Amino acid sequence: MNVLGIESSCDETSVAIISDGKLVSNLISSQDFHANYGGVVPELSSRAHLQILLPLVKKSLSDANITSDQIDLVCATAGPGLIGALLVGLTFAKGFAYSINKPFIPVNHIEGHIFSGFLMEEKPEFPYLCLVVSGGHTLLLLVESDTEIKKLGTTIDDAAGEAFDKISKLLGLGYPGGPKIQEVAMNQPTDFVDFPIAQCKNEFDFSFSGLKTAVLRFIQKEYGDATKIPNEHLPLIAASFQYSAIRALIANTDKALRKYKVNSISLVGGVAANKMLRDEFQKLSTKYKKKLVIPSLEFCGDNGAMIAYRGLTLYEAGIKYSFDFNAFPSLNDHTFIK
Ligand code: KG4
Ligand code: ZN
Repeated sequence: MNVLGIESSCDETSVAIISDGKLVSNLISSQDFHANYGGVVPELSSRAHLQILLPLVKKSLSDANITSDQIDLVCATAGPGLIGALLVGLTFAKGFAYSINKPFIPVNHIEGHIFSGFLMEEKPEFPYLCLVVSGGHTLLLLVESDTEIKKLGTTIDDAAGEAFDKISKLLGLGYPGGPKIQEVAMNQPTDFVDFPIAQCKNEFDFSFSGLKTAVLRFIQKEYGDATKIPNEHLPLIAASFQYSAIRALIANTDKALRKYKVNSISLVGGVAANKMLRDEFQKLSTKYKKKLVIPSLEFCGDNGAMIAYRGLTLYEAGIKYSFDFNAFPSLNDHTFIK
């Protein structure tokens, strides 16, 4: 069985093919030009997806050594994400599936991330605790099966990735912020500033807007504005921020591991690429003696492989979708997260 997966929710166009359960192609084209604007420009993103999608699909078919009519199932991200960007991948996928008379499965992008651990050799075992940390979402979940996902906590304001992006912008480090902050903070002491971590009403919720304000206030108080930060202080502030953001993520994950009986722990989404966060999850895994599954870097950021995989599990669960399924902007549509 050949499954085509298409991802176009934000600034990565990605196409993947899973053949008989094995990933045979996962092509990712990143729209780096958004860095010139300090963030993703939705209209430019849609246009770039439109230009690159067909060549990527052709290349993916050729990598898999199959022709288009040998595809058995077509999956595409339907949301959440930028509507214009989503429409490019979703409309293409519907047209492609219709033209070869094969089923089409719309995939929730966050569910793609949640199950991305299954792309690894060592897979999560149900029930597992999953921390999703992406540019737009932060979720702590109890994943009991392919179709039962319990939300334990979420962010009440900014997402973790968003906090990295905003602080990076503030420090003049550019976009996307996560990799830039990680780079300058590498091997730096983390105690230059003791930034606070928020306590929320729900013990598993997160809040990053206070941390963002604390960094801003510190800079204003100490230097006047960010352009006046001495060169030698910049890495120290970045490292202190990164440490606080990660401490907040780890604190809630640790609490959940004390409360819920799980077989595995999984860390997924773009921020899961962060070295310090990965190391901290390794420590939790040792502390609680739980199997840990963190996708390799290729599967942390947005990718078509996780969309093909998630689409395949929905197809195998017997769920059918019609061609009039539409793109959606928010997480709460078309999801098994309850
Ligand atoms: O999952 P993703 O690729 O796209 C969304 O679904 O949003 O996540 C992108 C986010 C961005 O905010 C980016 O700054 C962050 O992941 N990110 C990182 C790192 N690499 C990417 N954050 C922290 N450390 C990293 N190494
Ligand atoms: Zn994502």
